[in-house]
Amino acid sequence: MHQQPLKNAVQLQNRLKTTCIGSEIIVLTESSSTNDLAKHYFEQGAREGLTLIADRQTQGKGRFGRVWFSDPGVGIYLSVLLKPSLHSQPFSGLTLLAGVATVRAINRFTTVKASLKWPNDILINGKKVCGILCETCGVGAEPTGAIIGIGINVNHDRQQFPDELRDTATSLKIETGAPVDRSDLIQSLLQHLDEGYLLYKKEGIAPLIGQWSEHTEIFGKSVVLNQGGRFTQGIALRLAPSGNLVIRTEDGQEVSYASGEVTLKI
Ligand code: BTN
Repeated sequence: MHQQPLKNAVQLQNRLKTTCIGSEIIVLTESSSTNDLAKHYFEQGAREGLTLIADRQTQGKGRFGRVWFSDPGVGIYLSVLLKPSLHSQPFSGLTLLAGVATVRAINRFTTVKASLKWPNDILINGKKVCGILCETCGVGAEPTGAIIGIGINVNHDRQQFPDELRDTATSLKIETGAPVDRSDLIQSLLQHLDEGYLLYKKEGIAPLIGQWSEHTEIFGKSVVLNQGGRFTQGIALRLAPSGNLVIRTEDGQEVSYASGEVTLKI
């Protein structure tokens, strides 16, 4: 197993040329969940761009209440706190920008192409290498904070994954045969997130739809969408201007979906 230490916050910040993301960086040996911690810092009045990175998580969270496997020394567990004006720009734009930034960063470090599966899984050779959990925070009717949480399997060996993940999860090292420096990948990721966030604030979701679509291989494929146990089969066609996934269902209709989990049919 290839374990390497993470650079500290000052070392990471020194090489960053961002305007917002990484305005403050905290690197921790351990966190329950960096998303939960970011929420806590938000409540304490932390500034936008705060980035929390943990070497391991004890209660890493995935979508749909799942656990995110967060072993020490091999993965990236990172959350960024943002304060976008969600009344003028849709939250779904943040999700798209997170996916685009992460797939771009990963592809700088791999010889095998990573691609996006809606809404925001990143796959290499059909297996999941990264998951993204975006959450809102704040009191009152309108959320005033947003957290982008990103988990990347970087230097895991296959036998390191629990049995139930071994067939569906992978790591950059498994796919490329070589370890990747986590700190270098983090720096690239923060840079891409910053670029995406500037674009989102200036131009909204529209350019992100195109960018996201360039990095996916699901269009034209047969998929099953699971929405809390309600299954829809069809062909994934494109993203709608809202960021929803448009599927041609089996009865020939084009339907746009805002949430759910996509499985590619082989
Ligand atoms: C998923 O695919 O289900 C989303 C996984 C998101 C995992 C990351 S790791 C950093 C951040 N902190 C968490 O507790 N979850 C996210």
